[in-house]
Amino acid sequence: MIDSSSTLARPVSPLRRLIPRLQPHRYALAAAAVALVASAAIGLAFPLVVRYLMDAAFEVRDPEMLNRVAIFLIGLFGIQAVLNFVQVFLLGATAERVVAGLRTDLYSHLLTLSPGFFTNRNSGELTARLASDCSTLGTVLSHQVAEFFRQVLFLFGGLALLAVLHSRLMLTTVTVAPIVVLSAYAFGQILRKQSTKVQDRLAQANAAAEEALTQIPVVQSFVREGWEEQRYGSRIQSALREAVGRSLVRGVFFGLVTFIAFGGVAVVLWEGGRLVIAQEITAGELVSFLLYAVTVAAAITALASLWSGYQEAMGAAQRVFDLMDTEPEIMEPRHSEALPPASDPGGLAFHDVWFRYGQEEPWILRGLSVELKPGEAVALVGPSGAGKTTIASLVPRFWDPTQGHITLRGTDLRRIPLIELRTAVGIVPQDPLLFADTVAANIAYGKPEATAEEIERAARLAHAHEFIERLAEGYDSQVGERGSRLSGGQRQRIAIARIFLKEPEILILDEATSSLDTESEQLVEQALESAMRGRTTLIIAHRLRTVQRADRVLVVDGGEILEQGRHAELASADGLYARLYRGQLLDPEPEFVEEAAVRPFEDVTAG
Ligand SMILES: Nc1ncnc2c1ncn2[C@@H]1O[C@H](COP(=O)(O)OP(=O)(O)O)[C@@H](O)[C@H]1O
Ligand SMILES: [Mg+2]
Repeated sequence: MIDSSSTLARPVSPLRRLIPRLQPHRYALAAAAVALVASAAIGLAFPLVVRYLMDAAFEVRDPEMLNRVAIFLIGLFGIQAVLNFVQVFLLGATAERVVAGLRTDLYSHLLTLSPGFFTNRNSGELTARLASDCSTLGTVLSHQVAEFFRQVLFLFGGLALLAVLHSRLMLTTVTVAPIVVLSAYAFGQILRKQSTKVQDRLAQANAAAEEALTQIPVVQSFVREGWEEQRYGSRIQSALREAVGRSLVRGVFFGLVTFIAFGGVAVVLWEGGRLVIAQEITAGELVSFLLYAVTVAAAITALASLWSGYQEAMGAAQRVFDLMDTEPEIMEPRHSEALPPASDPGGLAFHDVWFRYGQEEPWILRGLSVELKPGEAVALVGPSGAGKTTIASLVPRFWDPTQGHITLRGTDLRRIPLIELRTAVGIVPQDPLLFADTVAANIAYGKPEATAEEIERAARLAHAHEFIERLAEGYDSQVGERGSRLSGGQRQRIAIARIFLKEPEILILDEATSSLDTESEQLVEQALESAMRGRTTLIIAHRLRTVQRADRVLVVDGGEILEQGRHAELASADGLYARLYRGQLLDPEPEFVEEAAVRPFEDVTAG
């Protein structure tokens, strides 16, 4: 009983978490282990054979015996070479397989985490986990574990042989060992802390570089290269300081430990010399003793350095598995309910929804209640920062309401399987980003099996076909990183084409045409109108013309619905919407319209 409770209390080494991943490779590992033990045994037998070699030369003076022993020794090393090859190859290959599996698992776990997780992390840090921490674990598996066992065998085998063959000299050797082990432990702790600091600083530097490099036009247009250089440079400098500190610790560590170990060897040798003079042992015996003593000392030094490697690996494993253990905030329902059959578009309803982005954050939505009837198109209007995008992101459950709930066809979103929910909801985001792939691949992102005809049809509906045709390679043109080779309006039309392929039941347009010029906006709006037909739609509108087509208009600000009704009603009433609408009528020029449209709202929010 005491035993089991104490194992519970002891923190489990994160490296143990690798063990289940080693299971499938147990045969390769067993073979490697056998090879390792056999090779170590040969290593341990070596001083014994040398003893015969020496005695053949110094004591017996028999050339025949000398030859035989030498040939035997070479044969032994030949076998050892084969064993070493088997062990190194099998372990290396297994380690690479385990690391590859770990990387893919970690990555697929990251993909399940909700957007909220990523707003608090930077991607540079996460890619560092995938790259360098996983590599560290690979080195542990392929090299350090084997080295550890080899040195343990050398240490204990060497000590045992010393005890049997040279009991008188062994005592001196043994007194040295605890001193080395204890100092190794202490330094290992310091080194581990120092290594974590280095890794953290490097991750920060990476994050700065990645951020600047992904938006180089912003950096250059504001002439901030110098500042970015300094920011990265200062982080690298602070990583450097920590790394130099780590080198210092390492240096002191190795200096001290090797001194203690080899100082001990010197003491032992001195004693051995006295025994030879007293004719208590032969020269061959002293040489073989010497070799064992060196083997033991080298094993202690190697174990000490492996200890620090082990500490580093623990840190890496901790970070990898912490990430692996991060539970997605948005979870699949434990008891999912199948949605009622979707012959008709479903209704979407917000029931007294309160939302904030975190415990400490201000409320963004305060008791929002609204129902979108099946097939209804509702427009959402409000100043920037009113929470419109937030409302949209609650529908596919990028976030969950802090209080209250949302239903689709009468079922709480949290009870619908995520796949089903997200298939039912289509969003054209405010600022769509594309993948560095072809135009066609980007349009078909949500439906990879789409045929070329389907893709073209969707592109035509989104009025994207015209500009795609004009690209150098048409649908096969590369769009660049994040779609940077296309204009904002072109990206937006590709995002709309995606929706035409997806054919969702609920359509959310988050200022979907905001980057388009007036002419293409009109064309795309016609297309969107046909897409809205037979769908429940939430249109977050930037320009009021879009709003006029909606069945109902909601005016939101400060997390609440201030007004709602048909465009005509609201426009003739004396509210926020009316002021906004009149503001737009004052000027026919679309670019001015936007400014004028925004101003009345700003007055309201200011007041
Ligand atoms: N990930 C986030 N974490 C914390 N606050 C956020 C986050 N996203 C948006 N906000 C805040 O929520 C408010 C509403 O934002 P948003 O819904 O994007 O407004 P809108 O789309 O109406 O312009 C803003 O004040 C914004 O600062
Ligand atoms: Mg928005």
